Amino acid sequence: MDNLPHKMPRKALFAFTICFLSLMIQITKGDDPNLLYVECPNVTLSTTSTYAANSTYHKNLNTLLSALSSNSNSSIGFYNFTAGSSSPDVAYGLFICRGDVSAAVCRDCVAYAAGDVVKQCPRSKRVTIWYDECILRYSNVSFFSILDTSFRLILRNPQNVTNSTSFRDALGEEKGESHRKSSLPLSFRLESLFCFS
Ligand SMILES: *[C@@H]1O[C@H](CO)[C@@H](O)[C@H](O)[C@H]1NC(C)=O
Ligand SMILES: *[C@@H]1O[C@H](CO)[C@@H](O)[C@H](O)[C@H]1NC(C)=O
Ligand SMILES: *[C@@H]1O[C@H](CO)[C@@H](O)[C@H](O)[C@H]1NC(C)=O
Ligand SMILES: *[C@@H]1O[C@H](CO)[C@@H](O)[C@H](O)[C@H]1NC(C)=O
Ligand SMILES: *[C@@H]1O[C@H](CO)[C@@H](O)[C@H](O)[C@H]1NC(C)=O
Ligand SMILES: *[C@@H]1O[C@H](CO)[C@@H](O)[C@H](O)[C@H]1NC(C)=O
Ligand SMILES: *[C@@H]1O[C@H](CO)[C@@H](O)[C@H](O)[C@H]1NC(C)=O
Repeated sequence: MDNLPHKMPRKALFAFTICFLSLMIQITKGDDPNLLYVECPNVTLSTTSTYAANSTYHKNLNTLLSALSSNSNSSIGFYNFTAGSSSPDVAYGLFICRGDVSAAVCRDCVAYAAGDVVKQCPRSKRVTIWYDECILRYSNVSFFSILDTSFRLILRNPQNVTNSTSFRDALGEEKGESHRKSSLPLSFRLESLFCFS
């Protein structure tokens, strides 16, 4: 998806990343994960992107989702799995949890995602679903260890920064970089405090 309104300056992208790392959302075990976005190409790619109920792909997908769910206690917050062996019905999938969430939050998110994803995007052969806490993705085409930059998404962090001085410090803009500081207007930089990529 290339629907970014404009190209973003490097520094703004960096700011978004920092925002993501410093997300302060209180995540308590038991809350449903916070859904951010679903990439659901079940219509845009025509009916060939969907699978039929009870088809081999559907069964493999169920196997995949249950494998992801039962391995949601992975100590590294990541797991990939392949269900089925005969083309074209193989289902490839993985989950990854945000680096700073606890094992319990990761487990809950993945278990929830495995059930929620097919409700959010029924019948699609490939889906990526983002929550605050984890990401789950599957496809009929293997995507493991393949860099994919075709889809980009910018999401707002609705929280306000409490101290813009220390925030700018964290961005490394105060020391040694002050001469470049005005490359973006302050309002834009503050706006970026609300965002992450
Ligand atoms: C995956 O599904 C698409 C339709 O969405 C199909 O065109 C493609 O051939 C399939 N690829 C494999 C490897 O099965
Ligand atoms: C799929 O299988 C389920 C359970 O076996 C059955 O209830 C349902 O009617 C089937 N759906 C189709 C479209 O065959
Ligand atoms: C994860 O869960 C599986 C099945 O529930 C269990 O067999 C395994 O020991 C667990 N692993 C860890 C690291 O807790
Ligand atoms: C997980 O991904 C790696 C590549 O990153 C691949 O070699 C491996 O076969 C995958 N494992 C499963 C169970 O699909
Ligand atoms: C595609 O997904 C949407 C939800 O994202 C759902 O409302 C729609 O019924 C799905 N289309 C098909 C063909 O399953
Ligand atoms: C952020 O600040 C604006 C302006 O002061 C205020 O309207 C808004 O409610 C604040 N948002 C949060 C999440 O505190
Ligand atoms: C904001 O952060 C700066 C640098 O960390 C600190 O010196 C200042 O006292 C803080 N201001 C407030 C209002 O907390």
